[in-house]
Amino acid sequence: MKMDNKIALVTGAALGYKNGGPSIGSATAFKLASEGAKVVVVDILEEMGRRTVDKIREKGGEGLFVRADVSKTDEVRKAVEVTKQNFGKLHCLVNCAASYEGDIFRNVVDIPETDWNHIIDVNLNGYFRFTKYAIPLILESGGGTIVNISSGAAFNVLKNFCVYPVTKAAINSLTRTIAIDFAPQIRCNAICPGFVRIANSEGNRTQDEIKKWIANIAKTYPLKRVCTVEEIANVALFLACDDSSYINGQCIIVDGGRYISDTHEF
Ligand SMILES: NC(=O)c1ccc[n+]([C@@H]2O[C@H](COP(=O)([O-])OP(=O)(O)OC[C@H]3O[C@@H](n4cnc5c(N)ncnc54)[C@H](O)[C@@H]3O)[C@@H](O)[C@H]2O)c1
Repeated sequence: MKMDNKIALVTGAALGYKNGGPSIGSATAFKLASEGAKVVVVDILEEMGRRTVDKIREKGGEGLFVRADVSKTDEVRKAVEVTKQNFGKLHCLVNCAASYEGDIFRNVVDIPETDWNHIIDVNLNGYFRFTKYAIPLILESGGGTIVNISSGAAFNVLKNFCVYPVTKAAINSLTRTIAIDFAPQIRCNAICPGFVRIANSEGNRTQDEIKKWIANIAKTYPLKRVCTVEEIANVALFLACDDSSYINGQCIIVDGGRYISDTHEF
């Protein structure tokens, strides 16, 4: 299997909050586990984080839940320590945790500074912290891979949605600097998804409303459907394992061709 004898840590890997629905982090954890990795599942959501591990175990895999807030240095360091205590090594870090809390659908004038700072601290600094404290263990383990879940928002921007794209553009830069500074022992790449259907963004919509909402978004994509969490997890596995052995410092757009398509019609 592609991740045999490998230890992976995935942040933001709880299942979706409502009913254990899809999330990119949990799908990635399942995928890595299905290929033989022992997976450390990190999240602030205990119940749904444990459910990810339960599902890994149900399928015969090995996993461990560690509750850690990526915005807290001591918790991040502890998660890395717990990984070492339990598995001895770490070969793959997938940074995926992100917050959408606060009044963030605002332009730079209107966004409250506390909300700006919160998103920077979780969505960008969380990736920095985990990378900073995981790299020594990855090096000690003989090297490995880092996969950063970025976003198409690093390249194009929605109106009045300023801070999230800033974190994702910065994550792409972070990805490239890690790729250069820690090669050849560590390869670091990013995935930039377009819209991916997850449980947490469905909010309080009814099933009917969700269907219409997704159908409207799908129309704007050349493939005429939205991405599934498994389609992102497949790319995460590819970047995590030796199948991508000569790919380093890349930010791969996984959006069914939307970014390169033009809405202009002749
Ligand atoms: N869903 C999409 O359309 C989409 C598109 C592009 C990029 N992304 C990116 O994919 C990643 C995963 O998001 P998702 O869409 O699966 O959403 P999600 O809400 O299901 O996952 C985010 C996870 O991060 C966890 N989290 C939040 N704050 C945390 C903290 N301080 N410490 C630890 N964990 C924390 C949440 O509890 C949640 O489980 C994010 O980086 C997101 O920006 C998502």
